[in-house]
Amino acid sequence: MTRTRTGYPSIVCSALSPPHVAPTIALAQEQATDARAIKTEQQMTDDERFSLLISVMGTTGSITTVRDPRIPEGLPMSAGYTPGVLRLGVPALRMTDASLGVTNPGYRPEDKGATAMPASVVVGSSFNPQLAREGGAVIGREARIRGFNVVLAGGINLAREVRNGRNFEYYSEDPYLSAVLGAEAVNGIQGEGVISTLKHYTLNCNETNRHWLDAIIDPAAHRESDLLAFQIAIEHSQAGAIMSGYNKINGHYAGGNHHLLNEVLKGAWGYKGWVMSDWGATPEWDFALKGLDQESGAQLDVMMWRTEPFTEPLRKAHAEGELPKERLSDMVRRILRSVYAVGIDKWGPAPEVDMARHSEVALETARQGIVVLKNDGVLPLAADKPLKIAVIGGYAQLGVLSGTGSSAVLPVGGYAAVIQIGGTGIMGGGRNLYLFPSSPLAELKKLLPTMHIEFDPGQTPAEAVLLAKRSDLVLAFGIRSEGEGFDLADLSLPWGQDAVIDVVASVNPNTIVVLETGNPVSMPWRSKVKAIVQAWYPGQAGGQAIAEVLTGKVNPSGRLPITFPADLAQTPRPELPGLGTPWGTPIIIRYDEGAEVGYRWFAKKGEKPLYAFGHGLSYTSFDYHDLEVGGGETITASFTVTNTGKREGADVPQLYLTEVPGEKRMRLLGFERVELRPGQSRRVTVTADPRLLARFDAGADHQWRISTGTYRVALGKSANDFVLTGAAPLTPRLFGR
Ligand code: GLC
Repeated sequence: MTRTRTGYPSIVCSALSPPHVAPTIALAQEQATDARAIKTEQQMTDDERFSLLISVMGTTGSITTVRDPRIPEGLPMSAGYTPGVLRLGVPALRMTDASLGVTNPGYRPEDKGATAMPASVVVGSSFNPQLAREGGAVIGREARIRGFNVVLAGGINLAREVRNGRNFEYYSEDPYLSAVLGAEAVNGIQGEGVISTLKHYTLNCNETNRHWLDAIIDPAAHRESDLLAFQIAIEHSQAGAIMSGYNKINGHYAGGNHHLLNEVLKGAWGYKGWVMSDWGATPEWDFALKGLDQESGAQLDVMMWRTEPFTEPLRKAHAEGELPKERLSDMVRRILRSVYAVGIDKWGPAPEVDMARHSEVALETARQGIVVLKNDGVLPLAADKPLKIAVIGGYAQLGVLSGTGSSAVLPVGGYAAVIQIGGTGIMGGGRNLYLFPSSPLAELKKLLPTMHIEFDPGQTPAEAVLLAKRSDLVLAFGIRSEGEGFDLADLSLPWGQDAVIDVVASVNPNTIVVLETGNPVSMPWRSKVKAIVQAWYPGQAGGQAIAEVLTGKVNPSGRLPITFPADLAQTPRPELPGLGTPWGTPIIIRYDEGAEVGYRWFAKKGEKPLYAFGHGLSYTSFDYHDLEVGGGETITASFTVTNTGKREGADVPQLYLTEVPGEKRMRLLGFERVELRPGQSRRVTVTADPRLLARFDAGADHQWRISTGTYRVALGKSANDFVLTGAAPLTPRLFGR
């Protein structure tokens, strides 16, 4: 990894950046780090050991109103604080949420805002690992300048459920894409000397009553999906910490899941960092015996589950011999090891923060993550015709939407508007419609000075139709506020927007819909509109990016990281168990689709979605040819991509497994985002992670099994649009853990 003038990482990597140093050096470093952690831990008193096993929240005035005495007076705070052991050079751990930027939901009134990056699903749509890493560097740099040495970023749960309110915080429905992007984001953060997490381990794929949700899944299928995302992401990022989720998996809470923490994460995978709980997700002290190393947000546990923090019963258990000294030492050493591996004990002056560059990264991420789903020739908007354009709805005069919950970022200069939505449960108070001050309307007026552009708020069909009737073209915005703690009841747009879009498109055939949502939507008006653009939650420069794509200043290259179903009947759970049940209701969700998540499910069921995983249109065209497929230990495919159109653009050719001996099976094996000038070609090679070709044998072997025979693959523009196919024999073998 090289560094640019300002010290920001500038790397060229394909799908996965290899470990940064040669294996031998890495091993020596690893052993030295392990030895240091042991040495420091051995010098600690038990009081010092226990002090590391808990984090407490700062004071926001809502959830926590009284400052915890362990937090030094005047220290700028956020989600977590763990006292250090200064006599041994162990710094305090200062934690902040930061998946989409450094958050500040009221902890630091003096902090006037951070770079508000586009949602992770936008990074997912970019299919661009380098961009993920650059976004991580932005977040790492802005955390460090504030003194935060641990960030709670790295959300890589799979979008199993298109009603999950938190999907905007995650990358995709595919384990490989999620792992690749999550790993690079963590590498960007840790490259700035800040520890990052990967979260929420695992199957935290729904928000309704998440503290009482039991996610049931076949263990082998779990290994081939959500766990594989974590496994690959850990291998390629060495994330300093893993955050366990709120929910249960197969009957045992994630934070106290012996199988998933001790046997899989720490045993089979050999993970050396530490496991922190989610905030208020440690109902029992014996989670420490089942793999949990640190309780987070202790005040919430006291509020929800117990009368005292985790460390009190832990001390008692230790005194009574129920908590072995070796385990106590191991918990501490894991934390110390990540402290030393990332180097937060060696901080010098914080590197400069180039906020202008950070804004550029936020803008570029939005540009690359906007997906054009439909275009009947109406895009890009021709700037030379003096058209009358109606911009309707979506608060487009004010800005663009962001998601709600713990990842919400206060942008520099503040929000354009915050409209309280409210709701039940612990997250209801923070459920707001947040608008970042990047107005699509204002940005369109800058780029289309000769056009006559008028705005209508889209309040009612009767009012909106009046402007639509007397316009040459309509840009109708559809928004939906989604966020932590809530699942969607269906895929419709709220507040009557579907009716507004339908009636507008009925009177004006030149209607273009721009969506700002965190999940797929049902689009009952789809056949009536000329174009559909999914901008997701595009971050602090989202209005500019939307305008640049609509006007063709930017050639769109986003590809869907989540399948858009035609309706919920196509999904594994047409009825979402527990939806709407009162706070505290136990729920069981059986993820019977197993590893067949998203496009894999649609392939298995032979269903055609509204828009496929990997789908996205460009203003130019691309051709694939000369596909060569090799076999042996894994599949290696080489092919040439050519820009056959008239303007530069980027494409994302995707290689899929389509059939293994004896059965059809869809797996994304690899992808590459390729930027090409007109007529330019690029030869691309994809080598599949062999675990994507294998079944996990959860029986005696607990290994990956590749069977003998011929494996069929397809090179496509999406999971439903194959251009070339090929096949190759693979060598049968058992491998990995
Ligand atoms: C939240 C989230 C988690 C976040 C933590 C701290 O409830 O589940 O992602 O990092 O609490 O805010």
